[in-house]
Amino acid sequence: MVTDAAQILVASNRGPVSYSPDGKGGLDARRGGGGLVSGLSAIGSDAQSLWVCAALGEGDREAVRRGVSEPGVRMLDIDPAIHSDAYNGIANSVLWFVHHMLYQTPLEPVFDREFRRQWGAYRAYNRAFAEALAADAAQGAAVLVQDYHLALVPGMLRQMRPDLRIGHFTHTPWAPPDYFGLLPDDVAEELLRGMLGADRLGFLTRRWADAFAACCERVTGGTGTTAIGVHGLGADADFLRERAHRPDVAEQMAQLREQVGEGRRTIVRVDRTELSKNIVRGLLAYQELLETRPEWRERVVHIALAYPSRQDLAVYREYTAEVSRIAAEINERYGTAGWTPVVVHVKDDFARSLAAYRLADVALVNPIRDGMNLVAKEVPVVSDAGCALVLSREAGAHWDLGEEAITVNPYDVTGTAEALHAALTMPDGERAERTKRLSAAATSLPPRRWFLDQLEALRA
Ligand code: F6P
Repeated sequence: MVTDAAQILVASNRGPVSYSPDGKGGLDARRGGGGLVSGLSAIGSDAQSLWVCAALGEGDREAVRRGVSEPGVRMLDIDPAIHSDAYNGIANSVLWFVHHMLYQTPLEPVFDREFRRQWGAYRAYNRAFAEALAADAAQGAAVLVQDYHLALVPGMLRQMRPDLRIGHFTHTPWAPPDYFGLLPDDVAEELLRGMLGADRLGFLTRRWADAFAACCERVTGGTGTTAIGVHGLGADADFLRERAHRPDVAEQMAQLREQVGEGRRTIVRVDRTELSKNIVRGLLAYQELLETRPEWRERVVHIALAYPSRQDLAVYREYTAEVSRIAAEINERYGTAGWTPVVVHVKDDFARSLAAYRLADVALVNPIRDGMNLVAKEVPVVSDAGCALVLSREAGAHWDLGEEAITVNPYDVTGTAEALHAALTMPDGERAERTKRLSAAATSLPPRRWFLDQLEALRA
């Protein structure tokens, strides 16, 4: 019998806190944000909750060794080689690619013996989570497992602790059956059966939930007794509005205004530099706009905040370099003494992101595929003067915001250039009206409600 154990457990690869050496022999703790952090805060500090996550860097591992931790957080110091094979090798290079449909299929994927070795590591990493959860969960506790990193955990945990209520939430899109079928048959089946070990599976949109069910139909013959729910995470309006009016955001606005120059319009994008975010085609569309509609030269600036991500993977490093290269090429070709057409910032800075949101005349959100995309939901909430949203039909957010956005096919560069023109020329009144409606739609399911709904449904 487990004593002094948690009633509500969350499991995710990346946890709510990370550690780095402070240069004086100690460790600095940095708390992260995001939907889960804010969602979990809804259950209050008295509730016995535990967040199980992986130690990601050397700082985190050192914290585990020294027994340094935050209340309610348990970091797992999984063998770095296993973690790297599972996280970089399988989760980010295979499962992420499958669900976002990122492969250049004439040459990839290649499922060879190396893949099989990494798949073994993915199993071991999932098992480490399942064992930690099994050890720390109270009798009948609710366990909310997050994302494609931990797809096998529900099935493993079910075997170890049949008394638990197990939920799993997918934050990515889900691949349609033909694309999911790229995976070796036994791996596809193991993955789906792993998830179906949960009592309940959650997805961000009906589209992703239906794709999952269609994959099960084909591979396992259906979803069995596992319930499937849709919870479309929204923006946290109160937090964003308060945070966006602090002095550091005002300072960043002043700096951006200076870089943009007097009287110019702004097209803003804010992303991790992530293959699925389609930053390169966004830049090409902007270039086409300047080429085909020269009246915009000197009159608009594209602010691209592109924060490096997953730099352990060569393909991400190359993509990051490509973004800088194309931005520099556009500036070289069209820039003048007093006008820089593209302003790129790569240092992750939340105050600057909020400053850009407030200033934006147009927000460009054109992912190839995206589970939701919170930028699309956050911009209208904090926009000062109203902002036209150019939005990919392949973003989960399109489900909620499509009616008030200018919709683009993310592969259609010419179409995106035209959409940017339409957004830039949208009359002020219409822009303000649409922004109001976008903001209402974007905040209809705030993170706390999103989390509590899942918990209630899981316990029902
Ligand atoms: O969408 C999946 C997800 O895990 C998000 O929850 C998160 O924003 C993103 O990917 C970041 O990934 P990573 O932890 O690899 O930086």
